Amino acid sequence: MSTATAHLHAALPFLIQQDWAAYTPEQHATWAELVRRCMPQLRQYACQEYLDGFEQIGLREDSIPDLAAISSKLEPRTGWNSTPVSGYLPTDAFFEMLAARRFPTTTWLRDKNSLEYTPEPDIFHDVFGHVPMHAHPVFADFLYEYGRVGGTMAGRKEDLTRMSRLFWFTVEFGVIRQQGGIKVYGSGLISSHGECSHVVHRGPEIRDFNLDEVLEHEFSISEMQPVLYAVESFEQIYEATKEAERRLG
Ligand SMILES: [Fe+2]
Repeated sequence: MSTATAHLHAALPFLIQQDWAAYTPEQHATWAELVRRCMPQLRQYACQEYLDGFEQIGLREDSIPDLAAISSKLEPRTGWNSTPVSGYLPTDAFFEMLAARRFPTTTWLRDKNSLEYTPEPDIFHDVFGHVPMHAHPVFADFLYEYGRVGGTMAGRKEDLTRMSRLFWFTVEFGVIRQQGGIKVYGSGLISSHGECSHVVHRGPEIRDFNLDEVLEHEFSISEMQPVLYAVESFEQIYEATKEAERRLG
């Protein structure tokens, strides 16, 4: 166990190493193709914090990221580390990692024949979709706070379900009002050309972010999102997470 992960317990069995040298040229080409599909739309419709973070953490358009290299640029900014894991984590391990500013990151990449769909998150969803936002100080603090608060809710099934909705409508499918329009910041929108196009073409109903409504809003993972919640700033979801701690339980 390295000293960097010494404070993790529940998450330890899920930590792996990324064997970056093992990625094939074909896999790097698949990454490049995925970026090529999403990026033109994102330059126009992603929030500015995402686009800034993409540059700041040294993400490349032509090759799969080396997580250690990404983290070496990210950690000095916000303390976050993109930490390789084997796949889905149990809730306690997931919250534990977020509260330690470690984002559980998968290392596999979807097949070139299924660019738009993955049954589980892959490195494109996790790194291209999520990690650039972790370079933004307020979003970084929000995500830490989300993990800390979630970690206090062990065994409280209904509250954990409500917390999963807060995650869904922010980290995964969040949008923000910026520069006179709706911009995307959730990874489910950033890393899916289809979901992002759906927003661009005004598919979903956009409601003002409201914590009470979000906590009770059931979502479907198998269809395009019919309703999204727009924030005015990332301070809003930071404060909402603290408010969730006060209201739940
Ligand atoms: Fe995700």
